[in-house]
Amino acid sequence: MSLLLSPLTLRGTTFRNRVWLAPMCQYSAADDGLPTDWHLAHLGARAVGGFGLVLTEAAAVVPEGRISPQDVGIWNDEQVTAWRRITDFIRARGAHSGIQLAHAGRKASTYRPFGEGRGSVPTTDGGWTAVGPTGDAFPGYAAPHELTEAEILAVPGQFADATRRALAAGFDVVEVHAAHGYLLHQFLSPLSNTRTDRWGGDLAGRAQLLLDTVDAVRAVLPEQDPLLVRVSATDWTDGGLTGDDTATVAGWLREHGVDLVDVSTGGNVLADIPVGPGYQVPFARQVRDTGIAAGAVGMITTPHQAEKVLTGGDADVVLLGRPALFDPSWPLRAARELGDDTPVLAHEPGSPDARIVEGQPTGWVPQYGRGSWG
Ligand SMILES: Cc1cc2nc3c(=O)[nH]c(=O)nc-3n(C[C@H](O)[C@H](O)[C@H](O)COP(=O)(O)O)c2cc1C
Repeated sequence: MSLLLSPLTLRGTTFRNRVWLAPMCQYSAADDGLPTDWHLAHLGARAVGGFGLVLTEAAAVVPEGRISPQDVGIWNDEQVTAWRRITDFIRARGAHSGIQLAHAGRKASTYRPFGEGRGSVPTTDGGWTAVGPTGDAFPGYAAPHELTEAEILAVPGQFADATRRALAAGFDVVEVHAAHGYLLHQFLSPLSNTRTDRWGGDLAGRAQLLLDTVDAVRAVLPEQDPLLVRVSATDWTDGGLTGDDTATVAGWLREHGVDLVDVSTGGNVLADIPVGPGYQVPFARQVRDTGIAAGAVGMITTPHQAEKVLTGGDADVVLLGRPALFDPSWPLRAARELGDDTPVLAHEPGSPDARIVEGQPTGWVPQYGRGSWG
């Protein structure tokens, strides 16, 4: 059996394999942050395709935390009902579902990448005033409102409320988004956080909001539910966050009850990023070496490459973004390419859909040269 397709247990949750769907904004929500049939198809196809954990795109914990007006959210009960249909579908396919909880901070209220415009959406076009650790703007975007102490203190509660709703919506896993230049990363990085109060200063001060948020989320999650945090391990810029900083933060996250750090990079400032196959894997390794489970992401495209990341001890799971868009059934293909007979698909016993496959081996896929198509 390959390591890639072998189960992984975090707390009380056993994932069927170690190929996870990376969070990917679809910019396709209905009004007011509601997930739609688009999200059912996008996430459902990857559950059918064999991914172990199917993570949603960044879901805003409050309306003003959306990156674009077309982002999904998890701040009201109508959204809970809409997500429920999607998590039910994912579970019935034998995958676990996770929601990425997000607040875009100073990168909120921007146009989606295709269509209506570029940069910040003005209030006259359905936008709103973004917020940040300071009034400094992300290059090309409108200046945010600098959060007051009282407003900062409210953030962990917003993530905790969103977690309660995520549980009601049937999600198995929560991932706190602290990467890609969004609010929690803005606080972590010295390039965007020049506050001189207890929310800024040294790494411990800049990490305070993230750790308070993690504490608030962990307090709501049942003991058996894993908590993930996505970080940008480096700002790829002199004077910014480094892999060493992130390793220190990973140690703190572990002490605060985080189970896996999903290791990405960049996004907080404009930087030259040396993109190439597996370019972020060394940062996952550095995090993992601190004693917490790590996820590797970024240009991991082939099954053999993914398997090597795991067998080499660089990460515990791999997350796929664009390769999963090109091939929603990437894990099924991986099983074939790795010569792995492990059933990739498993239906939850007793789920309404289990009867559909009665008498059919779980995970059965026609294998080239291994039998008839009958
Ligand atoms: C269309 C698209 C949307 C994305 N949206 C998110 C997001 O909502 N949250 C996030 O953390 N990363 C997001 N990402 C980054 C991916 O999760 C992933 O880290 C990145 O694409 C690199 O992995 P890949 O080379 O496998 O695509 C997005 C990427 C793409 C291509």
